[in-house]
This record gives sequence, structure tokens and C-alpha cells, in this order.
Amino acid sequence: MIYLTRRERFSAAHRMFKKEWSDNKNQEVFGNCSNPHWHGHNYTLFVTVKGNIGSETGYLVNLKTLSSIIRENVVRKIDHKNMNLEVDFMDGKVTSTENLAISIWEVLYPKVKMLGIELHKIKIEETENNFIEYFGK
Ligand code: NI
Repeated sequence: MIYLTRRERFSAAHRMFKKEWSDNKNQEVFGNCSNPHWHGHNYTLFVTVKGNIGSETGYLVNLKTLSSIIRENVVRKIDHKNMNLEVDFMDGKVTSTENLAISIWEVLYPKVKMLGIELHKIKIEETENNFIEYFGK
């Protein structure tokens, strides 16, 4: 079993909040990330796939194909967008990095499967000091 990771980057705005809570309660729970006037992050996304290498190609997957799938289904939809307002796969969700990782997993899992390999991990760095990893459960 071989593991391969592709890195992609995007920038997006968000606000951590629940609409059923007051501004004060949102501020109390989410702190600065609940600023009503939004803020943004430069995210780094790592998509790790796994499988067996092709006996003829010697590679796991065509990297250009994998990159196109990530860009088309994730980066194009979220880069320079407001996650709370414009990104279909974050609709109705608190825009935490945790939820973002789970949502990206759900978007990419079937696409990666179609390449004859499997999604192994979604890792997202929100800042240099914080990252989230999701393995599908
Ligand atoms: Ni934030």
C-alpha cells in the first residue's frame, strides 16, 4: 500500500457563529473567530490517497488528474469566497476547520474512488499552529 499526498492552498473568509445564538453568546463561545464583519485564513489542504501502484505506470495515480479533481470540486468553490455564504458544501454548517475537513472528505471520497484508489486523510492547516486531520470516521 502506497500513500500519496497532494497539497493545495486556498484563502477564504468566514465567521464562526450559530444563528440561533445571540451575538454575545457567539462571542463568548467562538471569541475573535465570531467577529460579525468576517475574517479570513490562508488554508493549506493536504489530500492523502492510498492504493497499489500500477504495474505498468509505476505510479499510484496521475497527479495532474488528482490535482484537477481537488481544484475543480474544492478549491474553485472556496478560494476567495465567504464560506458562510457562498460555498455549497458548507451550507448550514458552522464553518470550523473540523467541519471543513469532514465536508471536503465527503466531496472528494467518491471522486477519488472513481480513480481506482482510496481517500485516506484530509488534513487542513488553518494557521501555522493549528491543523485538523480527518480519516473518514
Ligand atoms: Ni477563523
